[in-house]
Formats: sequence, structure tokens, C-alpha cells
Amino acid sequence: TTTEAAKNPHHDVLDIAHRGASGYAPEHTLTSYKMGDRMHGDYIEIDLQMTKDGKLIAMHDETVDRTTDGTGQVKDFTLEQIKQLDAGSWFNEKYPQYANPRYEGLKVPTLEEIFKTFTKNKKYYIETKSPDVYPGMEEELLRLVRKYHINKDTLLVQSFSKESLLKVHNLDPSVKLIQLLSYKKHAVLTGQEAADMKKYAVGIGPNFNYLDKAYVQTARNAGLDVHPYTVNETADMQKLIDWGVTGMFTNFPDKLHRLLKEN
Ligand code: G3P
Ligand code: CA
Repeated sequence: TTTEAAKNPHHDVLDIAHRGASGYAPEHTLTSYKMGDRMHGDYIEIDLQMTKDGKLIAMHDETVDRTTDGTGQVKDFTLEQIKQLDAGSWFNEKYPQYANPRYEGLKVPTLEEIFKTFTKNKKYYIETKSPDVYPGMEEELLRLVRKYHINKDTLLVQSFSKESLLKVHNLDPSVKLIQLLSYKKHAVLTGQEAADMKKYAVGIGPNFNYLDKAYVQTARNAGLDVHPYTVNETADMQKLIDWGVTGMFTNFPDKLHRLLKEN
């Protein structure tokens, strides 16, 4: 008999809307996350930084310079000050082909606002950024996960910092973890390295451009999920699917959705 999986072997490849649908709208705004949803992204990806008064906000960089009209380090801003910034107009200037007047004046969202907006059953893929700069960010993340009853079956916490992941693990062993990895040349993974990461993480998130099939297979054989970042071209998406990845981060979740339907 033909099973669903045999008919569509890629039905379980996760479409992770990287910073929301950030190819089309200003990254890490509620607008970008909602667009990720509408474009059939399975997960919304959120990078965390922390304000001077200890609030977790969604932002990629440690400074506000690139994605707002302000300048300076996030850690030197109170949330009230962060809320004065325009987190949308920069996108219209940088990407005129996708510019939209309604992006002007968009605000930087807090993690709390994101949880309130998308509620407990949304699939969140949350990164602790620069955990060494923000002591206590893991505790605050888990406090909000508890407060908003976020479904932990579909929550993923990711970090380049193994230390930050282990901290989350020690605070709440039921939270699923993804070890992010960054390669600057041809990526090699030994079975031992994969097994070591499997002890605390359910999967890995390597940059896609230096991977090969052997790498993906070694990780998969160790039982790790493999979610490469950030894959924006259809040809690269297809290649990674053929190698056996279990999901990927993309700024264009609609493109990946179309491809997965064809596969
Ligand atoms: O979290 C996956 C990917 O986003 C890691 O790189 O710099 O875009 O956060 P970065
Ligand atoms: Ca990220």
C-alpha cells in the first residue's frame, strides 16, 4: 500500500519563516510574522535581544542601527525608548520593489507581544542572541513561555551558544533545542560530533552554503533534525531537500511552500 509519506516524502520538511517573511516585509515586525503565516510558513523565527530594563525584544543585531531609525546598543535602551523607533521605513528605502507605505513607523515587538498576538499554539523558533551580553535572558524567555502557556511540543529554542542551550535545558529539560553552527569553509561533521550534539539538542541549524549530502546524512543518521539557514533560491531548496534536510530557514516562505507542494 502507498502511504502518505511514500507519495510525498517531503511532506515533513519544515518551512521556517526567517525573521518572518523578511524578504517581503521589514524583518522582526508583527507584519512580517503575519505574512510568514499567510505564506504557509510552519514556524516563525525570532531573534532575541534584551533592553536595559530587561525586556526581551525581537531584533537580529545588537544595535538598532540597521533595522530602525535610531543608533546605539539595544542594551542601552529602555523598552519605552525602543518603542519610539521606526522599524519599517529602512526596508522601503533598501527594497523599493517590495516597499509599502504601511511599513512606515512599524514598531519593534516584544516577545510578550508576539506571544499575545500569535497565542500558544503558534510554532515559535526562538534564538537567544548574544547570551553573554544579556545575563538572565534564558530565565526571562522561559518565564514568558510559562506565562503564555506556549505549546512546548512545537517550540524550538536555537542558539549558536551551546552554553545558552544547556542553560535552557537545565532550567526546563522539556524544551527542544537546536544547535546553530556557522561554517566558513566546506562543512565536515563526524558521527561522534553529531552524537555529542544529540545528547542535548533535537537538531542542528548550519549555514547551508558549505554543506554536502554526506554532512546531512551523518546528522540524520545520528537522529538529528537538520535545518539549514538561510535558503532563498529554489534551486538550493531543492538540493537540500534531495539531501534529506528536515526543514530550512527562508526569507521567502511562499517559495518553499510552492516547491514542497510540487515535490
Ligand atoms: O537562526 C538561524 C539563522 O537565522 C542564524 O543566523 O544571523 O540570521 O540569526 P542569523
Ligand atoms: Ca536567527
